[in-house]
Amino acid sequence: MATLTTHVLGIDFENPFILASAPPTAKIASIDKAFTLGWGGAVLKTITPDNLEMIEASQRYATWKVGNKVCGFENIELLSHLTIQQWLEGIKYLKQKHPTKVQIASIMAPVIKEEWQNLVRTFNQSEVDAFELNFSCPHGMPEKGIGMAIGTNAEISSMITKWVMEVAQKPVFVKLSPNVTNIAEIARAVENAGANGLSAINTVQSLMGIDLDTFEPMPNVNGKTTFGGYSGISVKPIGLRCVAQIRQNSTLPILGMGGVANWHDAAEYMTVGADVVQVCTEVMINGYAIIESMKKGLLNYLESKNLHSPADLKNRAIANLSSHETLPKATQVYPHIDDETCVKCGKCVTICDESEHSALSLVGGHIMVDRKACVGCSLCSHVCPKSAIKMK
Ligand SMILES: Cc1cc2nc3c(=O)[nH]c(=O)nc-3n(C[C@H](O)[C@H](O)[C@H](O)COP(=O)(O)O)c2cc1C
Repeated sequence: MATLTTHVLGIDFENPFILASAPPTAKIASIDKAFTLGWGGAVLKTITPDNLEMIEASQRYATWKVGNKVCGFENIELLSHLTIQQWLEGIKYLKQKHPTKVQIASIMAPVIKEEWQNLVRTFNQSEVDAFELNFSCPHGMPEKGIGMAIGTNAEISSMITKWVMEVAQKPVFVKLSPNVTNIAEIARAVENAGANGLSAINTVQSLMGIDLDTFEPMPNVNGKTTFGGYSGISVKPIGLRCVAQIRQNSTLPILGMGGVANWHDAAEYMTVGADVVQVCTEVMINGYAIIESMKKGLLNYLESKNLHSPADLKNRAIANLSSHETLPKATQVYPHIDDETCVKCGKCVTICDESEHSALSLVGGHIMVDRKACVGCSLCSHVCPKSAIKMK
């Protein structure tokens, strides 16, 4: 019988699905609801010193949709609007009502030792189970020298991590930015500075689009915008790559995130090193209730694979990540066309011809493959409108 219970740094998660620091964790009443619906924990919306000004823009979100489906989400939102006292009371209330749920305090402060250490000392006294240092918000805060301005600089990241570790009495995760050339370098810097774990990824810096009538960018704030943070299902490949690169360079526990929309995405994150998975955008689009199918789906999958718990999935794909030079290149795959599904539209023929190889032709109502010209790139299988081509 499989279980979803997950243990990280002495913290027991009843399941490995927790809410990421964001609007779904910005209000005590909504976190309460999420816990009741089954989420294993929550990283609280980033808490800052009370005197740090937070003036939001409107509107603050923009989306990239295919049909009605939100594939990408951009935000230019700032941090928590609750005071530290409101958080302390809320955390206490939530722990009393939901003692088995994990609460992680996401914190951010100006690059001043006392400011970081005061925040940590304050929440040491609270019921939170751990800290997450937000070194990674890509908008608003970097202009003040914090957020991503910290997480893109190994030296400053390391310095603040040391300040925090001097006083922290609970495990400390550092939340990393994907907006760097080498995320593993920052991971190593904060690990050497004493961090207990890593979280990745925060949002990817972005510009959603431009209205070509008005030349106004999105999200439109009275005609202007600022570069924002991109999230949702379209960032999953970036998040997976970042988590894998961190895992290749560190043995610290990882809270993985970026585009997780279902149990399958979560399981993939675990195979590249995540212990626990965080979710934000999918909840903002479809609500807390997605937790039910995430838990059920992962449990069924573990049982179908005869695995006992999510920990048995951890790192399973890491050994299969290799350099291009060492990829096994001796064999080649070829397209196999399912004649019954193929509608003979000829799209694969055109695309193959126009993208280098000219290996396909439509002869006598069948797609023919010239094996001498085919390099097994797989482009035809991706563009077929009927999914009639499989590479074998
Ligand atoms: C509207 C919005 C607000 C966010 N606010 C925060 C924040 O306050 N602190 C933080 O660490 N990350 C914040 N994030 C980033 C998320 O926690 C998460 O790292 C990112 O969205 C990727 O996960 P996802 O694809 O599941 O959304 C925010 C994301 C969104 C969309």
